[in-house]
Amino acid sequence: MAPPKTRAAFSTEGHGRAGMGFRTRILGAAAGGGLPQWNCGCGNCRRARAGELPSLTQSSLAVTADGKEWAVLNASPDLRVQLAACPALAPTGPREVPLASVLVTNGDIDHVAGLLSLREMQPFTLFATAGIHEVLAASPVFAALNPDVVRRESVALDVPFDLVAGLRATIFAVPGKVPLYLEGDVVETQAIGEQTVGVRLDAGGRTAFYIPGCAALTTDLAARVDGADLLLFDGTLWTDDEMIRLGLGRKTGARMGHMAMSGPDGSIAAFAPLRIGRKVFVHMNNSNPVLDPDSPERTEAEAAGWIIGQDGMEITP
Ligand code: MLT
Ligand code: MN
Ligand code: ZN
Repeated sequence: MAPPKTRAAFSTEGHGRAGMGFRTRILGAAAGGGLPQWNCGCGNCRRARAGELPSLTQSSLAVTADGKEWAVLNASPDLRVQLAACPALAPTGPREVPLASVLVTNGDIDHVAGLLSLREMQPFTLFATAGIHEVLAASPVFAALNPDVVRRESVALDVPFDLVAGLRATIFAVPGKVPLYLEGDVVETQAIGEQTVGVRLDAGGRTAFYIPGCAALTTDLAARVDGADLLLFDGTLWTDDEMIRLGLGRKTGARMGHMAMSGPDGSIAAFAPLRIGRKVFVHMNNSNPVLDPDSPERTEAEAAGWIIGQDGMEITP
């Protein structure tokens, strides 16, 4: 299909029998920093500030199987405004919300800082691997999530569990690294373990994958996602050395634990042979040229069958 070019939030309905009420909503399509990033004067950030590009909040996805009960996958620093912008997640009573659980896929700041915005004595379950829970437990600030109301549940890799009513989730290890703030002198950038996971979501006979951070598409991961109805995947950078070339930093995408979109080793080429219903880029860094709807890179990604995720975009798997 030819993905629509748009600057506004919109809905993308699935083909055929959509699962009963199975819905994903991109709360934030940008990587850490957002668009514009507070201290960034790159072309995209300047244009976003000027209103010439849509601004994007940081990495988060909401999912539901019945339209009533929701889970949030990754709690970004922008979560408060993201929830305020999502009518389906608005409170239904004095202290009642449709949000039942939060799952974090790594301990990165852009995926956990928003937990601090959920500290108002509201019950929910916080799912993560035991390894990520250890990272959170080591930061006393997260004790703001009162254990009397917020249940921290460790989930094992490759063991399905109920994320919210009617929605099964399975987390699995993807190549990645520890959070920046835990990096030692030597950093394994394609570690496989409990620090970086992807999520498989199953409801109503439909399958979606959410993988916002991934350093490489292994054969194991390719086999796992092949045949899925929907894939939301790490779109951090267009080219591996993009931040260096733009004078924005000294690290490659590979060093940051992210595979680039373009080139022979990029995600567009890697996923091309797989049968996936719809492919959507999320977790895009503000330096990524695809964020400009009129860029040749955007045209190339869309021609390859990818949708460039936007804040507020809802997709029925
Ligand atoms: C990443 O996705 O590489 C991290 O969010 C970077 C960071 O922690 O700032
Ligand atoms: Mn990130
Ligand atoms: Zn920028």
